[in-house]
Amino acid sequence: MQVTVNGFSMAYSDAGQGPPLLLVHGFPLNRQLWQPQLDGLSEVARVIAPDLRGHGDSQAIPGPYSMDLFADDLNLFLDALGIHEKIVLCGLSMGGYVVFAFYRKYPHRLRGLILTATRAAADTPEGRLARDQMTALAREKGVPAISESMLPKLLAPQAYPNRPDLVEQVRSITLGVSLEGVLGDLAALKDRPDSTPTLAQIDVPTLLLHGADDQIIPLSEAQAMQAGLRGSKLVVLPEAGHLLGLENANVFNEAVRHYLKAGSST
Ligand code: MLT
Repeated sequence: MQVTVNGFSMAYSDAGQGPPLLLVHGFPLNRQLWQPQLDGLSEVARVIAPDLRGHGDSQAIPGPYSMDLFADDLNLFLDALGIHEKIVLCGLSMGGYVVFAFYRKYPHRLRGLILTATRAAADTPEGRLARDQMTALAREKGVPAISESMLPKLLAPQAYPNRPDLVEQVRSITLGVSLEGVLGDLAALKDRPDSTPTLAQIDVPTLLLHGADDQIIPLSEAQAMQAGLRGSKLVVLPEAGHLLGLENANVFNEAVRHYLKAGSST
């Protein structure tokens, strides 16, 4: 499905009925990441997964992008869908950075948060340098080179020899982002603010989900967030790396189901 939001055509999937659960993908990904949640959680929620601008089937418009801009897009997207009740907002990795921006700008729209494979801190100086190198690579060699450089890190190490179908699925997802999207994301990632001060302000029930074998964002980042987030719960998924909802969908969905039933209504 497509809807015009903030001047561009935004693609999304929308499955089930019940309390809205909005899923925000990471870099360099798209809403296909959430297929196991669209399939597995639509009995307990209205599961909505958009492609951010420049990603998947959404329009490939050039930057500048920022986490605030993505948050504005999502706010207008909810209006366009006529969703005025409070939602649970779930973000994976860069999607988590968008969740923090959304929380700062539109807290009245939220009844709960799910932060998955993400961190509160901003990029370190080394991290910012790596963004510049990846930007140069993208400009020179295009999206396939970005896909090749990200693919070996996105899943748990044991997935590469053992789950070739999953590896190919993830390769195909990472090829579904436009060059505009990659460049826009990298600048937005590099310049995103530190969200650590936001942790102390969050006053909605928050679930943290992290893969035990995440090669991109270490588990210690989720533990640090939990320490700063009153009343949050951290679930560590075995057999899972950075794309834990795809890698261990059963445990991921069970944790979300439990949270929706108990946690997010408290
Ligand atoms: C992501 O998965 O969204 C990115 O890898 C996050 C990041 O690089 O900080």
